[in-house]
Formats: sequence, C-alpha cells, structure tokens
Amino acid sequence: MKTIAIILASGSGERFGLDVPKQFVKIEGKTILEHAIEAFENHKLVDEIILVTNPDYIDLSKEIILKNSYKKITKVLKGGKTRKDSSYNGIMAINEKEAGVLIHDAARPFVDSQIIENCILALDKYKAICTAIESVDTLVEIDENNIVQNIPNRKFYMRAQTPQAFDLKIIKKAHELAQNAKDLTFTDDCGLVNQFALAKIFIVKGNEKNNKITYPIDIEVAGIVRKI
Ligand code: CTP
Ligand code: MG
Repeated sequence: MKTIAIILASGSGERFGLDVPKQFVKIEGKTILEHAIEAFENHKLVDEIILVTNPDYIDLSKEIILKNSYKKITKVLKGGKTRKDSSYNGIMAINEKEAGVLIHDAARPFVDSQIIENCILALDKYKAICTAIESVDTLVEIDENNIVQNIPNRKFYMRAQTPQAFDLKIIKKAHELAQNAKDLTFTDDCGLVNQFALAKIFIVKGNEKNNKITYPIDIEVAGIVRKI
C-alpha cells in the first residue's frame, strides 16, 4: 500500500503579517515550504507528495518545485478557503482505492523523520493517528463570559500537531460527512474523524521542533530549538 503525504500550504499567513504567505519566508536559506516538502521528499517510507497551495502562489510553488527537482510531488493543487477545504482537495485528488495518507501543515517546517516514521508505522494498527505534544501550560475551560468552567488535569490534555495519518477510506469518509454537516467546530483532520466517531485515534509523540510557525517570533524560536 502506498503512503501519500499531503502538504497543506494554502494559507495566507494573516497572523504572521507579511504581504507574502509565511510558507515563503526563508529560514536558513530555504523557504518554510521547502523545509516541509523535504522532510517527506527525503523520507524512505513516503512514496508520493501532493502539494496543496495558495491559488495566488501556484506559479511560485511550481517554480520552487522545479528548482529543487523534487521527485515525489505528483500533484500541485489549489487550496480552498479554509484548511478543511484545502485538506479536502488533497484527499479527493487521490486516485488509489487504498492508501496511507499523511496530512501535514507546511507551517511546520522542522518535523523530524522519526515522527513521520512513527505515524506511518502506527497505520499498521490504527486507522487514524495524531501527532501531539504534552501541554506545558494548564488548560482552562471557559464560557463565553470568560468565566472558568473547568480546570482539567493537564496530564490528559495534549496539543495536536501534524502530521496526522489516516487510512484513506476513513479520512475520505470524514470529509464527505463534513460536507453536509452544519456548525462543525473541528477543522483539523483528526477533529473530523473524532466528530463522526470513525476510528480510534492513536497518539504519536511530537516535539517542540515541530511547533507551527504562526507569528514572527516562532521563526526565532524554531531556529534556536532546531540547534538543540
Ligand atoms: N492552510 C491551507 N489552506 C487554508 C488555510 C490554511 O492549506 N485555507 C494551511 C496553512 O498553509 C498551514 C496550515 O494549513 O500550513 C495551518 O494553518 P495556519 O497555521 O492557520 O496558517 P495560515 O492560515 O496561513 O495562517 P493564519 O491563520 O494566520 O492566516
Ligand atoms: Mg489559518
């Protein structure tokens, strides 16, 4: 069975605040997008990569692919309005009947090969896998008036990262069901699988290097953490 990685790079990086999306910002001489692609391009267990890119930057994305002569990218697709729509476009472009699918945020450029391997190996036993890291802060549940409702034991709460890995049939089904659902609060892929109770979701341990680049300060932190 093939392992296909979908890289989501269709965001516009509003919180980052530049006039280009954050995935085109360079760290150590390479764009965030290139770092993310190369984690999968260079991974022996990944067969194919589908890149979902911001429609306004499809030419730039193709230029980057050509320049680097990536071998595993089979499709470059336009993303949608939300991350969920972009993910949908990637999943529905897979022609295989069966496959293992990894879905990864391009905004996590420093995912290490061990995390990718652990996600793929876990697919032998589970149909849905979420990379996650322990929460160093206590989480506080509030209501709409900012009043605390609950302070759960943080031991049982983790912060989700990507990649998230799925049996193709399960993640297709989750996105098909989501098309007709109203008031969905979960937009990441494990959130959808969980919402429709389609599979038990297994956790693979992530790490700090794999934190998402959201604000400019995250680039500084990524540069430091990467060297540790
Ligand atoms: N993403 C996507 N399509 C969208 C929105 C997001 O493919 N319509 C991707 C982003 O490119 C990113 C990942 O999903 O790799 C996680 O999203 P986020 O960190 O929120 O990135 P942006 O949406 O670009 O940032 P912001 O929310 O600050 O605008
Ligand atoms: Mg966003």
